[in-house]
Amino acid sequence: MPEFDREKKIIFSGIQPTGVFTLGNYLGAVRNWGTLQDEYNCIYSIVDLHAITVRQEPSKLRQNSLQAYALLLACGIDPKKSIAFFQSHNKCHAELNWVLACSTQFGELSRMTQFKDKSKKHADDVNAGLFTYPVLMAADILAYNADLVPIGADQKQHLELARNVAGRFNNKYGEFFKLPEPYIPPVGASVKSLADPTKKMSKSDENQNATVYILDDKDTIIRKFKRAVTDSETEICYREGKDGINNLMSIYSCVTGKTYDEIESEFASKGYGDFKLAVGEAVADYLKPVRDDFSRLIADKAYLKECYTSGAESAMRITNRILSKVYHKVGFVDAR
Ligand code: TYM
Repeated sequence: MPEFDREKKIIFSGIQPTGVFTLGNYLGAVRNWGTLQDEYNCIYSIVDLHAITVRQEPSKLRQNSLQAYALLLACGIDPKKSIAFFQSHNKCHAELNWVLACSTQFGELSRMTQFKDKSKKHADDVNAGLFTYPVLMAADILAYNADLVPIGADQKQHLELARNVAGRFNNKYGEFFKLPEPYIPPVGASVKSLADPTKKMSKSDENQNATVYILDDKDTIIRKFKRAVTDSETEICYREGKDGINNLMSIYSCVTGKTYDEIESEFASKGYGDFKLAVGEAVADYLKPVRDDFSRLIADKAYLKECYTSGAESAMRITNRILSKVYHKVGFVDAR
């Protein structure tokens, strides 16, 4: 069980168990989660409550959730250093969600771009959970009074809402919640679709060539990169309007550590074909240890269970205390 250090700041982040993580999830968020473990007290959650805001097949959700947990560990989250658990195993998230919902305005939720996108995409099921999704996300973070939230750029608006909700609660009931800061990486914060580089890379893209999944094998990864949509020019450089090349350059920079200048000189006399192949190979090699660790971890269900059970216990120890204080602040009679 992780020993938390009072001197260190608290990090919370989450990921939905709606399928294999994409290269976007990895570069934008999850790989950073691993690197932050020594410097911060980290809490990472597979957010299954969020996942049911869109229709899920129950047996598939259960399978995807276990897979997501194993992936989290394969991506370098060490359950001895960080708390890693399923959101549904800690009831405080749902309880705090209710209290915070009463400090969230209908108007601000209506402005969320993810709600607008998802309600278009799932027009036959625009449920209340989809609408109040960001409140639950605020509850996830505030239940631990987290300082920092490592996320990709697409979650920034939700984090701003969490800060507003926390501020409003503090105004009503007296200073209590910290206002969490986003931690958005300088490169990789918005990995784009390989089929349409103006859109973000997403798990649910119908075009299989658009998304690289972190468990794809080497040949598949290379094939997807070879088909990546670019432009009709020939120069490999980072410039406005070259969305496809810019995306490939940022991915290559993330996995090799090279700067854009270094990449430009490396490919100065080469064509797009060579560059796409190099990016594909570099990504496949970079992800190989994750694939290998995943196969080992997913086979050991007993170990996974031990980790997520103790993760949930540690999580509850923190949130029970915070939730009791919140209940007291809003005026509920103390239970004990
Ligand atoms: P989710 O599951 O969609 O994505 C998990 C993380 O991956 C990042 N991400 C990307 N980063 C760069 N490029 C991309 N193409 C890309 N696609 C996804 C996301 O920004 C995210 O950081 N609502 C959240 C989950 C959540 C959460 C939380 C996050 C629930 N509660 C509390 C932080 C704190 C979501 O759906 O992420």
